[in-house]
Amino acid sequence: AQSLGALGLRHKLHVGTAVDMAALNDANDPEYRRLAASEFSSVTAENAMKWESLEPTRGTYDWAAADQLVEFAKRNRQSVRGHVLVWHNQLPAWLTAGVADGSISKQELRELLRRHITTVVNRYKGKIWQWDVVNEAVSDPWDTPSTLHYKGFWAQNLGPDYIADAFRWARAADPRALLFYNDYNIEAFGSGNPADDKSQFVHDMVKGLLAQGVPIDGIGSQGHLGTQYGNYDTLQVTAALKRFAALGVATAFTEVDVRSELTEPGDSAEINPRLQASAANFSVLMKACLAVRSCLSYTVWGFSDRHSWVPEWFDDPPQGMATIYDENYQPKRAYHELKSDL
Ligand code: XIL
Repeated sequence: AQSLGALGLRHKLHVGTAVDMAALNDANDPEYRRLAASEFSSVTAENAMKWESLEPTRGTYDWAAADQLVEFAKRNRQSVRGHVLVWHNQLPAWLTAGVADGSISKQELRELLRRHITTVVNRYKGKIWQWDVVNEAVSDPWDTPSTLHYKGFWAQNLGPDYIADAFRWARAADPRALLFYNDYNIEAFGSGNPADDKSQFVHDMVKGLLAQGVPIDGIGSQGHLGTQYGNYDTLQVTAALKRFAALGVATAFTEVDVRSELTEPGDSAEINPRLQASAANFSVLMKACLAVRSCLSYTVWGFSDRHSWVPEWFDDPPQGMATIYDENYQPKRAYHELKSDL
């Protein structure tokens, strides 16, 4: 049988996964490595390219894990999505503490960001297909104030101009990598719910940046969905991608998973509807991606429930079952559905 990766390439679509380096290196878990290598045509570091992983101590970069992933991809003829250059989470403690106690000034912070982007992009120059340059810069409707705005550490400390700066610095370091803005809650448009406003905000932001000549090549829609929110609509997801594409940029689904609230042990009657709803949502995003030429890749945020960020991050109520293989690496309905879409 053909892999998801091979089937995707027939449509010029890369099907990728986020990779957990601890799992990849676990000698007692060879199936993880086997599937990561064989089933996907693209890989992303789940954590290994985040600033806190790369520069845990100021001035000392530790490239080991990120290098290893890039090598792995090369060996398996996979493309790499670089994730992530600028984000408000998983920053090194020395950086956030230095800003908090005033020992790092605004001017120095901007210079540290410039240096970080330049250093990382330059190290992997020619080896990264798409970079997530800026991640999750826009607030959510449930934030305060509820009016959409630029949120988080970077906007607070540098003002929103850091976004344009980041893209320019990334382009200067590797003119060939595709530079993405990446965010969540922008997957659909036209549902009438507040996520429409966020999709619109990101659309207008990118339009404005392009008008100023900022080098931005793509918009990534993360795709962290949940079965408790009902099924996404293929037309609305397609509409969101098409509106981005109309700006002249590429698009991608960058972190797809579909979580479910977990039932009490023994409540197996609830399992099947969830597997079905999960598969339906994975499939909606895939169908939309296949329908829009600008959609270059579809990346799942982990491929097995054995290694997924969901149970750790969504625990009230407990959630899980978010990926396309179960804990024993048995393909779930979502896997088969993606295959039939391809
Ligand atoms: C998550 C990882 O999966 C976790 O292992 C880590 O502890 C926290 O970050 N949006 C993103 C990703 O852009 O980088 C996040 O990854 C998930 C949400």
